[in-house]
Order: sequence, then C-alpha cells, then structure tokens
Amino acid sequence: MPSKSKTRRPRLAHTLPALHRAIAELRRRNASLALVPTMGALHDGHLSLVRLAKRRANKVVVSIFVNPAQFAAHEDLSSYPRTWKEDVAKLTAEGVDLIWNPAAGIMYPDGFATRLAPEGPASAGLEDRIRPHFFGGVATVVCKLFTQTRPDFAIFGEKDYQQLKVVTQMSRDLDLRVKVVGAPVKRERDGLAMSSRNVYLSAEHRAAAPVLFRTLKECATRLRAGDAVADVMRDGGQEVTNAGFALDYLDARHAETLAPVTSPKDGPLRLLIAAKIGSTRLIDNIKV
Ligand code: PAF
Repeated sequence: MPSKSKTRRPRLAHTLPALHRAIAELRRRNASLALVPTMGALHDGHLSLVRLAKRRANKVVVSIFVNPAQFAAHEDLSSYPRTWKEDVAKLTAEGVDLIWNPAAGIMYPDGFATRLAPEGPASAGLEDRIRPHFFGGVATVVCKLFTQTRPDFAIFGEKDYQQLKVVTQMSRDLDLRVKVVGAPVKRERDGLAMSSRNVYLSAEHRAAAPVLFRTLKECATRLRAGDAVADVMRDGGQEVTNAGFALDYLDARHAETLAPVTSPKDGPLRLLIAAKIGSTRLIDNIKV
C-alpha cells in the first residue's frame, strides 16, 4: 500500500503570490529544493526526473507550462498534448510537493519585452539550425522558472541533450546559483526514447521509430572501433532514411561543447540525431 505522504496531493500554485507563499513554506527549516521543469503530458521519462529530484533535495517542485515562446508559428503549440488531470495524479503518486502551473499571461504579461539570446551550445548547428526560435524561448522561460522558484537543483533529461547544455551554460553565465543536473534518457522496451510527442506516431511509424536508437548504437560501436566519423555518419544517415525518416541531422559532437569532431580522439563524444517520420519529429542521442 502506498505510504500516506505518497498519496498527498501536491500543493498547486497558479499565481506568483501563491507560488512564493508555497516556496517559503517548503523552504522552512532550510529544506533544499529541486525543480523539474516540464510542459506536462507526463510519461515515465518525466517521472524518472522527479525521482532523481527527490534523491537530490528534500522538496520537489514540478512546473507544468507549455511555453509558447519556444514554438515557431508552424509548430504544434495548439495541438501539444495536454493531460492535466493525469499529470496531477502521476505527480501525487510520486510524492511531489508543489506543482507550478502558470497561465501564459502570468509568464508573459502584456508588455513583456525581454528574450534571452543564448549562444555557445545554443548555436552548435543542431536543433538551432532546424528550430532557430527554440533555444531563445527555452532559455527565457527556464530563466524565469529559476528566478520564480529559486531551486538549488534543476533536473533536465539528457534526451534533449543540446537543451541540457544550453540551460547549464545559462545558469552559470547568469549566476543563477541553480545546479543543473542531467538525467539519463528513459526508453521504451524497443529502445525508442520516451517523449510526449510519441503519441503523435501512427502504428506504422511507431514500428519504424526504434531505428533511431539502433542506428545510434551501431554508429557508436563503429566509432569506438576507430571507423572514420564521416563514413559512420553517412551509413547511419542512410539506414534512418531507408526506414522512412527524413533526416535533419546525425552528428558526432564533443559531449561538453557540442563542437564538431573529425575523430573519436577529439572526444568525449556524443552522437545526436533528429529525424521526421510523417509529421512527427523525433530526437535522440547517446554517449560514445
Ligand atoms: O523540455 C521541456 O519540456 C521544455 O523545453 C522545458 C525545459 C520545460 C522548457 O519549456
């Protein structure tokens, strides 16, 4: 039977005064605080972030906010999955202390006119090349989430590897005093990385999707064996294209700076992939 504390509904905050009151209460007796920023539509990948947050800190806040600033006009903001009731039930079962769920008008009130322009890992030529809007919107909202909740730790999934590097750099550069912690990618049994967007996949596309992780693993094995980066990337890209995907990129990068590499000796390396099948875009990455 779940313990009592596990079934207590988290406190909900929808306004800034309510958030600040709740955070002040959580911080009593010097409790440490971890934030898990999300856009909702929670799956086991998110819950693994919450579990890591609980190991890092005494109290855990999860934000649920579908951030308009990181979607371009042609992207899926209006159709992005929203599953509020289920999300609250999952976070209740995990024993989360507080859910921060502002409306867009609270995050971006009339007259809002500031947007961060991250560089460094945000201009590595990966996601930023395909989604030029994305990291400015992510950095702006994450900076606001950090200053609103003032956590000691913030947990981000390694699945969005470039995002993890961007927010780590931002927290450091802006002296936000939040330790950004990366959590391993959580996968389905067939290797597909968990993502809120997987619900968009048709049965046929879902069956094809594990090719991304399979290809990453094969490429990593070849790189470790000393094959040339360019050859490995070419063959990997072909495999993904043959499975019906339109490839945005498959690239080996320096794991910390995301700088391009020509040889495994330039490492530590990270292999990153993004590809579209039907109208669903998937991303994934692994350590080499
Ligand atoms: O990874 C996400 O879900 C979002 O990009 C984030 C970090 C919550 C910012 O909106």
